[in-house]
Amino acid sequence: MEKQEIRTFGRRHGKKLSARKQLLLDTVLPVFLPKNIKNTGNLILEIGFGNGEHVRDLAIRSPESVIIGAEPFMNGVAALLSAITSESDNQILPEYKNIRIWPDDVRKLLHDSNYTFSEIWVLHPDPWPKARHEKRRLLNADFLKLLSEHLDKDGQIIIGTDHWEYFDWITAEVKKTSLYASFPPLSVIHTRYQNKNMAETDAPKYMILTNQ
Ligand SMILES: C[S@@+](CC[C@H](N)C(=O)[O-])C[C@H]1O[C@@H](n2cnc3c(N)ncnc32)[C@H](O)[C@@H]1O
Repeated sequence: MEKQEIRTFGRRHGKKLSARKQLLLDTVLPVFLPKNIKNTGNLILEIGFGNGEHVRDLAIRSPESVIIGAEPFMNGVAALLSAITSESDNQILPEYKNIRIWPDDVRKLLHDSNYTFSEIWVLHPDPWPKARHEKRRLLNADFLKLLSEHLDKDGQIIIGTDHWEYFDWITAEVKKTSLYASFPPLSVIHTRYQNKNMAETDAPKYMILTNQ
């Protein structure tokens, strides 16, 4: 990262992993790191993928694209690896060969690479609802500007959250940037976090941001 940035996520490690998941982290994760991707094809980024349900959905819906998922919570990384490899021999399932995993803060990846994306997804970013934690919110104007620099010409940033106060806060941050916002109804698969519905709202709200 360019400078010491405020941490936007909680734990990096949760409960002890099963032997299989630990093995996947040690031996299979290195194969999935987003090294040396030729930026000639279509790249899609998902930030904070949790357990990776939506990364898998993207991989199947966009087989011609490379999907990079970023997530610093290693139990989530292990859960995704477990779901995209065969239990019998830990080989990557064919439908998920287009996934790459960045097991760390996405800001490090963005600062250190020239990748540009057709789509950048952020589903249910941590809302940090207490006022004293507001500075931990990832989707502030500086971060949105960084994302805008990594968009393809017609690229889109798609943000969804069931935390409506955070949604309004993000909308105000967008106004400090040159991004354009639209608020279409979207049909997106339910992630684990959405199913928990911690905010107890009726439904997630979505926004799409573009450079033009
Ligand atoms: C509330 S969870 C939602 C997970 C998932 N998108 C879902 O809907 O189930 C937010 C996730 O964002 C991740 N996160 C927070 N800050 C991040 C950052 N700077 N880079 C990448 N991921 C981040 C957290 O580790 C956490 O897993």
